[in-house]
Amino acid sequence: MTTAISHAQYIAHVANASLPDAVREQIFVEENRIAAEVLKPRGLARRRVLLVGGAGYIGTPLTAFLLARGYDVRCLDLLLYHNSDCVTPFLGHVNYEFIKADVADAQATNAALEGVTDVIVLAGLVGDPITKKYPAEHQSINEEGLARFVDGLDGRGLNKVIMVSTCSNYGEIPDDTLADENYALKPLSLYANAKVAREKQILGGANKVDYCGTVMRFATAFGLSSRMRFDLTVSEFTRDLFSGTLLQVYDADTWRPYCHVRDFARALTRVLEMPGSVVRFEVFNAGGDANNYTKKMIVDAVHRHFPQSRYEFVAGGFDRRNYKVDFSKIRSRLHFEPEYTVEQGIIELIAALRQGFFSDYAERLPFYRNQDLNYKPV
Ligand SMILES: NC(=O)c1ccc[n+]([C@@H]2O[C@H](COP(=O)([O-])OP(=O)(O)OC[C@H]3O[C@@H](n4cnc5c(N)ncnc54)[C@H](O)[C@@H]3O)[C@@H](O)[C@H]2O)c1
Repeated sequence: MTTAISHAQYIAHVANASLPDAVREQIFVEENRIAAEVLKPRGLARRRVLLVGGAGYIGTPLTAFLLARGYDVRCLDLLLYHNSDCVTPFLGHVNYEFIKADVADAQATNAALEGVTDVIVLAGLVGDPITKKYPAEHQSINEEGLARFVDGLDGRGLNKVIMVSTCSNYGEIPDDTLADENYALKPLSLYANAKVAREKQILGGANKVDYCGTVMRFATAFGLSSRMRFDLTVSEFTRDLFSGTLLQVYDADTWRPYCHVRDFARALTRVLEMPGSVVRFEVFNAGGDANNYTKKMIVDAVHRHFPQSRYEFVAGGFDRRNYKVDFSKIRSRLHFEPEYTVEQGIIELIAALRQGFFSDYAERLPFYRNQDLNYKPV
């Protein structure tokens, strides 16, 4: 006779086998609570996670990770970058649903939230350049649209709501300092201003709203994704030096933390699965200490693979951001450490480039970079 293990046992003791016994036991208790209090009233067998902006660079590997782990995924995304191909492979999956809609459209989001247990907010205009180029669209989406969306989350009996924010919020800090979650925020762009506002909005819900909110301040992403972005440092430098383009590097000595997109999928899933008491209205820097790099360190790491490639350092760039980040909280409270180093991400991307992936880069810039928009507000 065979004995089936329950979903709670699977999540606690199989999917999280690397965690300490006591933590796995807490997760087991949490999963059973969710089954009784969240799934049963909705008539669901599994948690259904709404990924808002789930068709993007980070959202697509996250989708694959969650589906493989047995979650139902519903994605709401406006496909702003002609990125429908990124979700095509998921469309036939029995546990996947896609809704093409604007997060600023209250009617559409209201419908998308029906029957959902948890929400991860990734959507928005991402990055300083695109928000600077399209300030009105930024206002409609990142400020008003997302603020309205967050306002509408209370009173639905949701389990967890995770707001994906950015370490860019630290802005500019001295080289000898590591920013932990309590370090003063100094947003230097429209993009970071809106992120700080959404963080405050979520955290302001503590003791007021009926869900467990968490803010994740992400390092800068690298790694392969079906919605590849080449407007991010590691991938941009690797592609440029691979293709023989003269790479111009502004402010080479400025620091940033980096993190692989698959590690972000693991970190977000960890928040979904940890007991609410550990993540409730907490902020976590998401990444790992070893992946704090200067731009020069990244250039050196890529150049080793292409010694003939050319680059030049240029002083006086317009981007003042400089921040090294402390990731001890996510390590100690969530037992999270990234699996991928920047060097591994570079090797992974070079292997793909060598096989001809992304050779349509020049023809598909609006797909590979967050730079052009055709957005009509609702
Ligand atoms: N990529 C990074 O380096 C990085 C670093 C820190 C934080 N983050 C955060 O992670 C999240 C995801 O970033 P990403 O790199 O995957 O970005 P992305 O631009 O690849 O993905 C964003 C997705 O949101 C969708 N979207 C945009 N506006 C929308 C709207 N009004 N309605 C519905 N969908 C909309 C886009 O179509 C896209 O698929 C963002 O919140 C970003 O701020 C990213």
